[in-house]
Amino acid sequence: MTTQAIEFRKRIPHVSVPAHPVWPSLTAHEKDALKQRIKDLLKARNAVLVAHYYVDGDLQELAEETGGCVADSLEMARYGTTTDAETLVVCGVRFMGETAKILNPEKRVLMPDLGATCSLDEGCPADLFSEFCDQHPERTVVVYANTSAEVKARADWMVTSGIALPIVRHLHENGEKILWAPDRHLGHYVQQQTGADILLWEGSCVVHEEFKGFALERLKRLHPDAAILVHPESPEDVLRQADVVGSTTALIKAVAQMPNEEFIVATDDGIFWKMHQMAPGKKLISAPTAGAGATCESCAHCPWMAMNALQNLERVLIECDNRIEVAEPVRRDAVKSIQRMLDFAAEHGISGALPRS
Ligand code: 13P
Ligand code: SF4
Repeated sequence: MTTQAIEFRKRIPHVSVPAHPVWPSLTAHEKDALKQRIKDLLKARNAVLVAHYYVDGDLQELAEETGGCVADSLEMARYGTTTDAETLVVCGVRFMGETAKILNPEKRVLMPDLGATCSLDEGCPADLFSEFCDQHPERTVVVYANTSAEVKARADWMVTSGIALPIVRHLHENGEKILWAPDRHLGHYVQQQTGADILLWEGSCVVHEEFKGFALERLKRLHPDAAILVHPESPEDVLRQADVVGSTTALIKAVAQMPNEEFIVATDDGIFWKMHQMAPGKKLISAPTAGAGATCESCAHCPWMAMNALQNLERVLIECDNRIEVAEPVRRDAVKSIQRMLDFAAEHGISGALPRS
């Protein structure tokens, strides 16, 4: 690595991670009543829920019961463009809300908590990223969905984990060299799988970064028949042990379709709600995040995703504040990199949706 690269790396900000929010517990009766009020508000506001698999199971259930969407980030982006609802309520993290707004500027996009961000987004400030791009003008800029609107505006392509490999393979076959940001583990995985020349930004996901390869090896010895499912934001020594590497949707499909009865899962444990729904009876074990023994408890849960709850969902539907806004000049540039991905997905039949059960 050159001295210039080392100096540049030092300027990438350290991301501070919030504590997991603690939500007041509700009795079954209180929860049902709250859910009913939210359903009424959704109708009154002509709104739909667009939820990620990592948010609380009650929110995922509500999204499904009210005709909304529960999906990975690829399908969440696409879904907003297919509904007639005037308001999209995004239960996830901020980049998902921004992507929805960029693609649907005429719609109102609300989020339960605008502070729900992502360590990848936080660790890739637009001004520093722009400087990085200026230093490498010969490279095609490919950014992960987990970035701000400003970073997407600087990119040639946006990709999600569900489509990164075919898009980078396509660019590599066209002879293009790539600048990739921000997730270094996913970028490294894509580099290995495609053979593309990729220059990496040094970002990581605070949730997936915690999975430990050595502890996973021990856990696998205790569960030799379990299949190991890994999200590609995980470190290389975890990815190396995977039976399946893929987006959240791909990991859920694997649980439903593989014959195994047990799975060790290296991603946010919010995904277990959907996995249990798709494959009731199968045993799901969180991949270990730390500790001396293979039996250590995983704390694999995104603190920003956990900022979404029934209580603040009701609140935002009443107040209609917490709106996502993207300045028009930024939106006009950012939409190009996102639309390019959606067009590629449509052309190649790639979807982040689960088959309807
Ligand atoms: P997916 O696109 O696979 O759902 O991933 C989103 C994410 O933030 C993973 O941490
Ligand atoms: Fe970002 Fe990681 Fe949370 Fe996904 S799990 S939203 S990558 S911090």
